[in-house]
Amino acid sequence: MSSTEATKTEQMLALKAEYLIPCVYHFYKKPMVLERGEGVWLFDTDGKRYLDAYSGVGVVNCGHCNPEIVAATERQLHQLQHTTTIYLTEPMLRLAEKLAQFVPGQLKRSFFCTSGSEANEGALLLARLATGRSDFVALSRSLHGRTHLTTGLTGSAFWRTDPHPPSCAHFISSPVCQECPHNKTYPECDLYCTQALEQVLDENKGKVAAMITEPLHGNGGIIVPPAGWFRRIKDILEQHNVLLIMDEAQTGFCRTGRRFGFEWEGIEPDILTLCKALGNGLPIAAFMTTDKIAERYTKPGASTFGGNLVCAQTAQAALNYMQTHQLEQKAAQSGQQLRERMELLAESTPMISEVRGRGLMLGLELTDHNGTVAGDLLDELLEWLKDNGVLAGKTGPGRNVLTLMPPLVISTEELHQLCQKVAQAFALLTKKY
Ligand SMILES: Cc1ncc(COP(=O)(O)O)c(C=O)c1O
Repeated sequence: MSSTEATKTEQMLALKAEYLIPCVYHFYKKPMVLERGEGVWLFDTDGKRYLDAYSGVGVVNCGHCNPEIVAATERQLHQLQHTTTIYLTEPMLRLAEKLAQFVPGQLKRSFFCTSGSEANEGALLLARLATGRSDFVALSRSLHGRTHLTTGLTGSAFWRTDPHPPSCAHFISSPVCQECPHNKTYPECDLYCTQALEQVLDENKGKVAAMITEPLHGNGGIIVPPAGWFRRIKDILEQHNVLLIMDEAQTGFCRTGRRFGFEWEGIEPDILTLCKALGNGLPIAAFMTTDKIAERYTKPGASTFGGNLVCAQTAQAALNYMQTHQLEQKAAQSGQQLRERMELLAESTPMISEVRGRGLMLGLELTDHNGTVAGDLLDELLEWLKDNGVLAGKTGPGRNVLTLMPPLVISTEELHQLCQKVAQAFALLTKKY
C-alpha cells in the first residue's frame, strides 16, 4: 500500500461520516475493521486477531460462527428463507415448543420479532392489554431499547434520547447499595428502597400495568440487586395487580450461570423478553408469557420477519447447542474463575473499586485517586486492550465499568489469556497515574 492510499479503517470511517446518521457511535480512537469470527476470536481486515470479551454485547454465547449452528442456518437458507407469520412454517412453531421447554416455570407462549426493542415494546403492549392499564415503572439505570416507549422507559441518561418521552413512564432508583439515596446500609435497611415502588403505585392507583426491569443491570453498570430485593418487589407488584416484565436481553441464555437471570431471584416474571443470544448472531427476539396472560392478546398481530425460518432454525440449533454443551454450567465455572482472578487483581489495583456480576457477566468499576468515576481511564484501558488483542466493554452511567462478557464457550486457556491481558493493562495504567 502506498503511503497516500487510505487504510481500510480510514475508508470505513469516511463512509461512516458521509452516510450514517451521526448517532451511530463506535468504540476506540483508532478503530479496526472486523471481518471474520471463530469461537471467541475476531479478526480484522489486516488479519490481526482479538479475543472477544464482549460477545457483540452478549450475543454470541455459543461463539462466533459456531459450525454446528451455522450448518443449521445454511440448510434452511437453501430450503426456504421467508414467508411471514401469515403462513404456517415448522421452524417457528418448533422453536416456540422448544422455548416453552427451555424456559423454566409457567412461561409458555411466544410472540417472535426481530430485536430487543421490539420484544420489549410488544411485552409492554401485552401488559396493557392484559391489565387494561396504561402506565409503567422502570429503574433509573435501565436501558430497554430505542423505540419511543422503550427509550421512554430507559432511565440511563446516556441512552435516553427522545426529547418528548411518554408521560406513562415512572421511575424508581435502581438498587445500587453503594450509592443508596437514603444513606442506608444493607441488610439493616430491610430493603427500605422498595417503598419507592409502593409510593409510585399508590400515587398512580389503578394506572400502572407493569414494571419492566433486567434481572441484573447490563448497561447500567453490571448491578446485581441485593438478596431479597426482587422477592419484595414482586410481592408489592402482586398486591397492586401489576405485572413484572423481565428484560433478559443480556442475561438470558446461560450468561449468568443459569439459563435465565430471574432464576437467581426465586421469582417468576409474568412476561419475559428475549433477544441477542437467542439467534447467536442472527436477528431474532421474542416475548413470552403464561397461558392466562396470553389469552388477552387475540386481536390479529403479525411480524414480517418475526419467526423468520432461517432465524428460527438457527435459534433452535443455538438452544440445542447450549443444552448439549452445558453452557449453563460452563458459564458458572468460567465465571467463578474469572471473578476470582479479577478480585485478586482488584486487591492490588486501587483504581478497581469493585468487581461484580454473575457468571460470565462481570463488571470492574474504575475510580480515580479522588474516588470519582474514571471513564477516561477506562477508555485508555480499552484502547490498550484492543491494541493488544482483547475487546472488552464499558457500561455504567459514568461509562467507567469495564465489562467482561466473553462467549460462554471460552476455554480455560483463553480465559487465562484474557485475565493476563487485563492484568497487564491495569499494571501499565497504574504506573502512568
Ligand atoms: C437490556 C436491554 N434491553 C433491550 C435492548 C435493546 O435491544 P435491541 O438493540 O436488539 O433493540 C438492549 C440492547 O443492548 C439491552 O441491553
